[in-house]
Amino acid sequence: MNALETQPFAGWTIIDVDQAPSTNDLAARESPWTVVRARRQTAGRGRQNRHWVSSEGGLWLSAVLPAPPSEWVASTAPLVAGLAVVRALGELGVRPVRLRWPNDLMVDERKLGGILAERPGIDRLIIGLGLNVHNDPERDDPTLMGQTISLARLGLGNLGVSDLSTAVLDALQRVFHCWVERGFGALLPDFESLWGTPRQVRIVVDQTTLTGRFLGIDAVGNPRIETDSGSVHVVFGPLVWQLIET
Ligand code: BTN
Repeated sequence: MNALETQPFAGWTIIDVDQAPSTNDLAARESPWTVVRARRQTAGRGRQNRHWVSSEGGLWLSAVLPAPPSEWVASTAPLVAGLAVVRALGELGVRPVRLRWPNDLMVDERKLGGILAERPGIDRLIIGLGLNVHNDPERDDPTLMGQTISLARLGLGNLGVSDLSTAVLDALQRVFHCWVERGFGALLPDFESLWGTPRQVRIVVDQTTLTGRFLGIDAVGNPRIETDSGSVHVVFGPLVWQLIET
């Protein structure tokens, strides 16, 4: 990789590159507590291998963590990272951000960013974060019209990619230590306020679609919904293809 600059920050080593296919792919070769940050990505990826538009002006970074020894890492990692990002943004004064299960950072009905958690091996976990700052995904991809938002459009264009990164990495480190030392259960109360007002959702699992009101998560991060008949269902997260707010 052609690093522009490498700098230490609070236990992290941040590698800046001008362009990457996907920072998650570059980070997969690195050791824990390394971060790869790119000005733009040419093949940014989202959940379920969807294309992630990542032109200059956004925050595109991937942080490598030592994978905690838990069978639930895959389903809880994006949630833990989402919690860290919402906290970091809150500390910077960006308050209206909520989570949409499992990996979306939302402002009202629009997407501000997303998280892609991947495991290149059993020992490492990669948290890829994409955050719209000065970029406009809708200009790059008109099919996203009306679905996204950026910090600049929220009037927060003064927040630079560098300040955002350090706040996120700091929060990620704190939340990660809590997750490893005390378990996901210790973080559960923090999620309660993060989903925003209860919304009607459609959850697509294989050939089936479940509809109901999103109630939050269970002890291992699976989504819980209440159907129109009033019964509460826990949906096995790893099988969920898509959760759509209706
Ligand atoms: C999603 O909402 O589906 C997740 C989007 C994650 C995008 C980030 S940008 C940095 C990192 N590199 C990638 O290719 N994807 C993640």
